[in-house]
Order: sequence, then C-alpha cells, then structure tokens
Amino acid sequence: MRYDSQTVHDWVQQLYEAYGFEAGDAQAVANMITYTDLHGIASHGVQRLSMYDRFIQAGKIDLHAQPEIVFETPVSAVVDGHLGMGQLIGTFAMNTAIQKAKTSGVGIVSVRNSNHYGIAGYYANLAADAGLIGFSSTNSNPGLIPTNGIHSFLGTDPIAFAMPAKPHHFWLDFATTTVPQGKVEVYRKLEKDFPADWVLADGTRPIHDHNAPELAGIRQQSAPVGLTPLGGFTEATGSHKGYGLAMIVEIFTGLFSGGALSPEISDGQHAGTSHSFIAIDPAIFGDSRTMFSRFDDFLQQLRAQPAVAGKQVYVHGDKEAAAYADRKANGLVIDDKTFAELVKISQRLQVDVPEF
Ligand SMILES: NC(=O)c1ccc[n+]([C@@H]2O[C@H](COP(=O)([O-])OP(=O)(O)OC[C@H]3O[C@@H](n4cnc5c(N)ncnc54)[C@H](O)[C@@H]3O)[C@@H](O)[C@H]2O)c1
Repeated sequence: MRYDSQTVHDWVQQLYEAYGFEAGDAQAVANMITYTDLHGIASHGVQRLSMYDRFIQAGKIDLHAQPEIVFETPVSAVVDGHLGMGQLIGTFAMNTAIQKAKTSGVGIVSVRNSNHYGIAGYYANLAADAGLIGFSSTNSNPGLIPTNGIHSFLGTDPIAFAMPAKPHHFWLDFATTTVPQGKVEVYRKLEKDFPADWVLADGTRPIHDHNAPELAGIRQQSAPVGLTPLGGFTEATGSHKGYGLAMIVEIFTGLFSGGALSPEISDGQHAGTSHSFIAIDPAIFGDSRTMFSRFDDFLQQLRAQPAVAGKQVYVHGDKEAAAYADRKANGLVIDDKTFAELVKISQRLQVDVPEF
C-alpha cells in the first residue's frame, strides 16, 4: 500500500508529541523517519517505530535528555547523549562536526550513551548538504557473528559516507552484516524467505526459511544464531573483511567515546549505543571545485559502463534518489503489518489514525 508522505510525517510527529517529546524534537524525529522511507529504506523508517515504542515504554529512552559535549579539541569532541533519542543526539553531534569542519577543516565527534539512531546515511548527508564530505557509523546490540564464530558479538555496525555530487550526493550506506536486522524483520513481515546466507545457525548452517524456529533467538547474544558479516560466513568468500569493517566501527564509536561496545548493549540493559560522525571540508586539499567537477564526470563514466542484459551500473545513492522521486510522487510504501503496528501505538497514545 502507498501512503502520502506528508500525512505519515504529521502522524509520526503527533505520536512523538503524545509520548511527551518537545514539539521541535517530535518534528525532528518525524523528519528523519519520513526521510528514510522517502528514500526507500523500508527497514529503518516507520518499520522501526515499534522498536522505539518498546524502548520508550521500558524507560530506555529519556524523552528530555540533552546531549552534552564532555571533551573537546578544535577538531574533535566526545558527546554524552544521556540516553536520549538517538536521532536527536545524532543530529546534534553531526552539526557539531560540521561546525568544526567549517572552522578547522575537519570535525570528528564520537558519541556515547545514545540510542538506536536510524540510518547512518542521514547524518553523512547532513555534511554533504553543507558542501562537506560526511561519514557516520554506529554500533548496536549484537547481530554480527565474527568469522568462524557461533554467537553474535559485534553490532550490525553500519558505515555511511556521503560526498556532494550532481545530480545527487554520492551516498554509500550499508550494514557491515550482509543485511541489517531490520531487513530480516521486513522479510518476515512479508512472509518471504531470505534469498541468500543472511542468517547463520550453529556457525555453519545458513537459514533461509523466514519461519525457522531459530530466528526467535536472533536478538539474543546467547543463542547460536545471528547475521553473517558482509562477505558471508567463510574466509573463502571474504567474511573476515566485513567482520573487520565492523571492528573499525567499534573503534570509532564505543572505544573513542568511552561508551558501550556492541557486546555491552542489549535490549534488556540500560547501556546506550555509541556513534561516530566525521565532516571534512574538501578545501583542505586545495581546489575543491575541480575535485567536485572531476568526481561528477567520474560518476557519469561509471553509470555509462556496459552492463549485463536487463541491468545497469549504478552509483551509490542512485537507487535512493530514484526511490525519493517515486515516493514523493506516489507515496511511501508501508507493509500491512507495520501499518497495523502504527495503528496499535496510536490507539494506546490516543492519537487519531489519519485518513489516507
Ligand atoms: N542504526 C543501526 O543500528 C543500523 C544498523 C544496520 C544498518 N542500518 C541502516 O540500514 C540501511 C540499509 O543497510 P543495507 O546494508 O541494507 O544497505 P543496502 O544494501 O540497501 O545498500 C547499501 C548501499 O549500496 C548502494 N547500492 C545498492 N545497490 C547498488 C548497486 N547495484 N550498485 C551500487 N550501489 C548500490 C545503496 O545506494 C547504498 O548506498 C542503511 O541506511 C544503514 O545505515 C542501521
């Protein structure tokens, strides 16, 4: 089903006001959630609201927390999120990195005590919107099974990189597991089997059945089931490389901020998530205008590369730009089970379900 994006935005804003968030904060969360669905990233838009609802009800998210800079140099900062809403803390931290990049060329901000912040690309794109190169990553509750292991130990630890370009930013944004947890949830809601080795049981057994009983343990660190790193679960397919990328994320997030590493984060505990944000002014390398124009040409050369029948060569961010044009014109795509979750939350919070 398709749903008008502005109506969904206003609905999400009303829900967040009903929880007790300040109006401006509720609007910022609605902006970010709608931005995600507008760009076709169904795993992390309104699909994630039921998880946030669970966290808010359990008191894991402090509605009125204010992020605080607790350590700072001209090019870096550590932010304590005081367990507020991840989207609000993430936006504050990336704006801090952007300010530092504008005055010092580079800004690196590491965050502790936050919560799930949605898509990493939203924050990288904030820097690109300001004419800068942007990077963001976050750790999460465990999801990734380290190569040759049996249990999840690292997070799904996404990395996002954005660089200004025409007609839209270069936007690379991916989980360091083969897929994020949210994509498994979406496939299960749609009753679709997994098309590849996304989920692994007992360290050797890929699970493709969306109804497999093992999936009940996918968010439990103690269960012998989890997600494969990018590159699958064998060294022959490069599993150790995705695992290694997740290690870099742990260093930039939990280690630099002094906050939780992924194994210390779990649904049942009150340990916050850690994030990282980097903004770089390309002018620190000299002539940035020539750099950007060469980059635009380079991207066009890539898009023009010969492709196999019925396919095309994309540049990272192309699919999101196409999804944005489609969703803006034709509405957001929301699956029936996710819509039912939103209706249930609305009823509990006594917010009217809008007419579509
Ligand atoms: N907050 C969290 O804890 C968390 C954890 C994991 C993932 N996430 C988010 O989940 C989202 C989805 O992650 P994903 O791993 O499913 O990403 P994905 O596989 O959908 O896309 C990854 C990237 O590849 C690009 N892409 C796709 N097909 C391409 C092609 N053929 N050629 C070139 N580029 C192509 C996309 O533009 C995107 O930049 C991300 O936005 C990520 O930040 C969040």
